[in-house]
Amino acid sequence: MDSRVIRQKFLDFFKSRKHVQINPARLVSDDQTTLFTSSGMQQLIPYLMGKTHPEGIRLVNSQACFRAEDIEGVGDNRHTTFFEMLGNWSLGDYFKKEQIWWVYEFLTNVLGLDPNRLHVTVFEGDNLIPKDEETFSIWKDFGVPEDRIYFYGVKENWWSRSGSPDQMPVGEIGGTDSEIFFEFPQVEHDERFGEKCHPHCNCGRFMEIGNSVFIEYKKTGDSEFEKLPQKNVDFGGGLERLTAATNDNPDIFQTDLHKPITDAIVQVIGNPYEDEEEKKLMRIIADHLKASVFLIMDGVIPSNKLHGYVLRRLLRRAAIKMRNLSGRLDVSSFVSMIRIIRTQYNEIFEIDWEEGLPRVNKVITEELEKFQKTLDKGLKEIEKISEIDGKIAFDLYQTFGFPYEVTEELFRQKGQDIDKEQFKKEFEKHQELSRTASAGMFKGGLAGHSETEIKYHTVTHLLHQALRDVLGPEVFQKGSNINTERLRFDFSYDRKMTEEEIKKVEDLVNEKIEEDLVVERKFMSVKEAQKMNAIGLFGGKYDEEVSIYVIGSNHIYDVNAKDQRERSGYYSAEFCGGPHVEHTNVIGGIKITKEEAVSSGVRRIYAELV
Ligand code: ALA
Repeated sequence: MDSRVIRQKFLDFFKSRKHVQINPARLVSDDQTTLFTSSGMQQLIPYLMGKTHPEGIRLVNSQACFRAEDIEGVGDNRHTTFFEMLGNWSLGDYFKKEQIWWVYEFLTNVLGLDPNRLHVTVFEGDNLIPKDEETFSIWKDFGVPEDRIYFYGVKENWWSRSGSPDQMPVGEIGGTDSEIFFEFPQVEHDERFGEKCHPHCNCGRFMEIGNSVFIEYKKTGDSEFEKLPQKNVDFGGGLERLTAATNDNPDIFQTDLHKPITDAIVQVIGNPYEDEEEKKLMRIIADHLKASVFLIMDGVIPSNKLHGYVLRRLLRRAAIKMRNLSGRLDVSSFVSMIRIIRTQYNEIFEIDWEEGLPRVNKVITEELEKFQKTLDKGLKEIEKISEIDGKIAFDLYQTFGFPYEVTEELFRQKGQDIDKEQFKKEFEKHQELSRTASAGMFKGGLAGHSETEIKYHTVTHLLHQALRDVLGPEVFQKGSNINTERLRFDFSYDRKMTEEEIKKVEDLVNEKIEEDLVVERKFMSVKEAQKMNAIGLFGGKYDEEVSIYVIGSNHIYDVNAKDQRERSGYYSAEFCGGPHVEHTNVIGGIKITKEEAVSSGVRRIYAELV
């Protein structure tokens, strides 16, 4: 059974159980808290929290996902940055029993997987959330023997977009989960990964093929959770892995979703897909190129920031690996692989390849040709340097755009080890210097620093928060532009605001101006900023320091308020490089002059000082 058949069978299976197929979300996330869509549930957050979904309470789809954080993990038999997630959801409808039964039925009856090779995991419980005895009993009743049901803690059997409970920001939703693993007995356990093999062992004998998350909690405080108004099911299963399991081949890069690409690489390099080290490089090229194609189709272009930086890194890594394998970087071989990817995904995801393919070819060709020149120049420099330390590695990064791991790899070939700590120190020094600039990027329109413009800048923060207060947390900044006459603010929202809502927002902003709140810049870790629910954060390392502008920390609001932001006594906290006014009453007051549509799901507001 190939991936097309499996995808269709999954959709049909759940459609025949009253699920409605919904369109997949874009790969580039519309939600400003994350850069990419990394799970099917991402577009459903408001509905998992209780909002009514227009298509109903049982949904199904197939979602293209991208996980930038997995970039280093690609190379083994089962990890990728880009993958397709088959998903089904219950929004407050059925729960554990139906879900587990249906997934089990799909895997064993529809895909024909051998039940004796399925292993399942269940949450073991901790001081916050009890052991999931119910799921354990359900699996047992369905005939899974106890020795193939494993208990794990929050690290493995709790799911939220940000990981385990302690890593979740306040307001985030999640729940315990139950994963299904497929065992490949043909893969010998490798003792380097531990004495005994088990589902979460990394040797490759076990492959996770599905995860049912029971989303029923919302984080409300440091170690506090409350139950959501409804119990939800969020299932995700990787199509590449399901295809590998169905065909009893433990290497997802040998399924129809990747093999044509690895075959093309084999042709270019003239070596078979055999040697373990070479296989690793081929897998990285196949994954990174496919991810790049989809990102570019979605509008990303290579740059040194955010989405563009991730894309650049993928392409450069793919290029370096190709160079390692074949001794050269043949850009035209990439173009023929792009054609293969297009054929694989023809008529899936409603992609307009006619429009997109020439663009993809152009972007990738230009980027790789530029990189080739960079590489040649950089390599000449490297030849001249006898010893590469972390500082030089950083200079190479700055001057030639060599990602650290690229430099490391090139020198490893020369038999040198670089001091990564020193590189990191240089990198952090540079980050500190550029932080203000990059934070300013989120306020795209901060054109000048005149007194009036600075006032508008602070009003933008107040307006952003007021819109969220009046319309809901789905409101996120999409763009901003300031001049001495007015501010313009674009935000995500799916309908026209009513006169009443506009008035409410305007009143709220004016109220905050009148309260004369202090505006303070605070430097804190991403972790602390997330705790404060600061807006505009894009992930990042937990201990990385960021600049947050906090408005109103002098003001004591309602200590009994449910909203953590109000309880802690500040009105707005936003990732930003400034500058801002020091006190809100210098602003005087504002008037919203216009509200209009920009594009589907994006509104625009104009406001002026009065
Ligand atoms: N959202 C769940 C996951 O990504 C299904 O694993």
